[in-house]
Amino acid sequence: MVSLLVLNGPNLNMLGQRQPEVYGRTTLSEIDALCVEHAVLHGAKCNCYQSNHEGALIDRIHAARGTYDGIILNAGAYTHTSIAIMDAVASAAVPTIELHLSNIHARETFRHTSYLAKVAVGQICGFGPHGYVLAIDAMLAHLAENETS
Ligand code: DQA
Repeated sequence: MVSLLVLNGPNLNMLGQRQPEVYGRTTLSEIDALCVEHAVLHGAKCNCYQSNHEGALIDRIHAARGTYDGIILNAGAYTHTSIAIMDAVASAAVPTIELHLSNIHARETFRHTSYLAKVAVGQICGFGPHGYVLAIDAMLAHLAENETS
């Protein structure tokens, strides 16, 4: 059974209350439930984890090696700053999709830079919570494609 890790970074625990005009009203627990439900619907397994700490996220990415088939990663602001998380993704060698609720390219210039884009399979942004569903579908398709090639 395909096993996925949904990893959320800093401030995403505040979803529902945090800048609802940007991020909407859906809470992180609702997003986690959506992910688990959607994965199960497709015969996959999904665990969700959030941390506000860069090192804790890196530890989870390292631990994903050999444990998970794919990572859906919303690294929050670390996306734009963290070479360390980029290196962790590269060293874990687990296919990773970069995800953002908001369209980072339509926002401030500093959000247009993503260190993760360099090591991710691809990026999904701008679709709010539905982006997680899209990312799971994209990851399952990516994994299925790689299995047969
Ligand atoms: C975010 C976008 C980031 O720029 C921001 O720092 C976040 C959330 C998003 O999901 O839209 O914390 O990753």
